[in-house]
Amino acid sequence: MIDSLIQVMTIDEKVGQLVLYTPRGHDSLSGPALSPEQEQLIRQGGVGGIFNLWGAHATRAAQKIAVEQSRLKIPLLFGLDVIHGYRTIFPIPLAEAGSWDTALVERDARVAAAEAAASGVNWTFAPMVDIARDPRWGRIAEGSGEDPLLGSLMAAARVRGFQGEDPARETSIAACAKHFAAYGGAEGGRDYNTVDMSERTLREVYLPPYRAAVDAGALTVMSSFNEIGGVPSTGNHALLTGILRNEWGFRGFVVSDWTAVTEMIAHGVAGDTAEAAALAFNAGTDQDMESGAYRFFLSRLVREGKVSAARLDEGVRRILRVKYALGLFDDPCRHISGDRERSTLLSPDHIAGARDAGRKSIVLLKNGRGVLPLSKNLRSIAVIGPLADDRTDPLGPWDGLGRPEDVVTLVEGIRSALPPSTRILYAKGCALDDADRSGIAPALEAAKSADAVVLAVGESREMSGEAASRSTLDLPGIQNSLVEAVAGAGKPVVLVLMNGRPLSIAWAEAHIPAILETWFLGVQTGNAVADVLFGDYNPSGKLPVTLPRTVGQVPYYYNHKNTGRPPVDTTKYTSRYIDLPSSPLFPFGFGLSYTTFEYGDMTVSPGAIDSAGTVTVGIRVKNTGARTGEEVVQLYVRQDAGSVTRPVRELKGFLRVTLAPGESRRVEFSLPGRDLTIYDAAMRRVVEPGTFTVYIGTNSRDVTEGRFSVKKR
Ligand code: NOJ
Repeated sequence: MIDSLIQVMTIDEKVGQLVLYTPRGHDSLSGPALSPEQEQLIRQGGVGGIFNLWGAHATRAAQKIAVEQSRLKIPLLFGLDVIHGYRTIFPIPLAEAGSWDTALVERDARVAAAEAAASGVNWTFAPMVDIARDPRWGRIAEGSGEDPLLGSLMAAARVRGFQGEDPARETSIAACAKHFAAYGGAEGGRDYNTVDMSERTLREVYLPPYRAAVDAGALTVMSSFNEIGGVPSTGNHALLTGILRNEWGFRGFVVSDWTAVTEMIAHGVAGDTAEAAALAFNAGTDQDMESGAYRFFLSRLVREGKVSAARLDEGVRRILRVKYALGLFDDPCRHISGDRERSTLLSPDHIAGARDAGRKSIVLLKNGRGVLPLSKNLRSIAVIGPLADDRTDPLGPWDGLGRPEDVVTLVEGIRSALPPSTRILYAKGCALDDADRSGIAPALEAAKSADAVVLAVGESREMSGEAASRSTLDLPGIQNSLVEAVAGAGKPVVLVLMNGRPLSIAWAEAHIPAILETWFLGVQTGNAVADVLFGDYNPSGKLPVTLPRTVGQVPYYYNHKNTGRPPVDTTKYTSRYIDLPSSPLFPFGFGLSYTTFEYGDMTVSPGAIDSAGTVTVGIRVKNTGARTGEEVVQLYVRQDAGSVTRPVRELKGFLRVTLAPGESRRVEFSLPGRDLTIYDAAMRRVVEPGTFTVYIGTNSRDVTEGRFSVKKR
């Protein structure tokens, strides 16, 4: 059917399918709206998809123009950045990755899809699956952190969630794995910057999550803004055609990032817009987001023979296939429903899910003197800080249609968790990012007159996300002064961090007894944090990213190489800084619970396998505390000696156990030989014979180790 359609299309109609367009008009009631010229373009078959148009009313009207008034009646795609929720805003992806719970992440993506679909959006520019090793990069907030395995599992879960079992279902939307590739490897963490890395690092660290998204069936992929080793991704044939299509068998379409096609002129690989269009399209970028290069030049390029007719047909075929998979040819308005829009957006189920996701994303970093959980019988509690009663920033970057009035602030969450008799003393203390100190003294007064203090500091949501790189990881403004002042009040203080990236909090770590990393948790922030503060939920989150001591350490990640001179803090000629301990503030995988877990002896059997065999690695985990708790037990491996150097540790699996006080359970991992596959010196994929150290632990640092070997087959 698709081929017969392509046969009757004119060149201009074909090019139209490759154009993604943004509405320029605005309707004061329903939001973005198409201009009369844009409507005319749809009638002429000049547009394949529209970006940033939503709402059942507006999308249905646009779809009707396409399928009733255009010659070939090809339905439109409606794309939007539905990153961590559509109207019900969930925790940012980095936070959710800290749940290490793929079922939860899949469920939240499903909810986002159901809400977006009802509103007419049938395509999201998510999941963002870029590995990030540099927290200066603001977009670390949108991904799943630094680890390829965790990142891959989260990528696949999100694709499954958005697309459901069948993308044509009325609650499903098409996913878009982005930004292909290695966008997170930008120099200095500066957004849009140069990426220059070895093929080994690219393939072993950065590519696996995109591959996982493709294998999970992602219908589309977005090319990235950056170059890799001299070739911008949008014009990178080896990447978009060689790896993505030929190696991985991707059958969907590739959309460029916003104006990335014409940005190849600034990159310096295209002399003008026509050259940029030819370069991008011939490399494998099928659809042009917003730059206009395809719209204005592609037909001519085809007529001049600079782009082949076969390539044009292939691009169109890929796009039509996605529309077909979404069921749009059967029923172009299938997903759109004003009734469902009214009943699903912010439905009680969705809000309950956001609260659950919020509390499961929180990481307990420190709990000195058992300050947490706080008692609900306190007479008074001071809730202090610029984020304590903030209803905008907790939405985080890329908040879809999220609204401040949907957000439960921390003060509100605490209020509803406590009996009416508890006094809540709120003091802002200072702004997130200015120098006005006048609020600090009143905040200190509030702290002194309360039984306990909850202090909420961090970043504004504009400080992470796109084009929001920072040169420091410190708390912005004078928030450190506020933290220092409140710490001096002599009361039990719980620091609640809200932020889109790891922050350097060394002073707080040394002086504040209890610290919760909450990232940005979305609409249920206050309730989710209160659940943890008062022990209604026992935290189980684990860091999806290393927390460095200071920005000077970055890039800093757990799966680094050993070097010939691994750091020894007391030895001069080793690989370290002379002014810092050679360790992060908190390692990857770290997270405490209100109970304690003890790890017993480890068993590894058999002691030797060949590459087709499987090692079973087991350990007994016991809950030695007084509360039921969940632990994410982590498995890491190191190849002791290979044909090439290997990371000191690599995550190979994790399992979640829930244990009652005193209960113990044996946790067993199956580690198949194929999971030890590496690229050898000649970039062949191999499992090399030799010895391997295997680690099980509560994070990437605190582990028990064992050994096995791989014999030649
Ligand atoms: C640019 C961003 O890099 C990308 O992630 C996003 O999907 C597009 N803009 C559209 O908003």
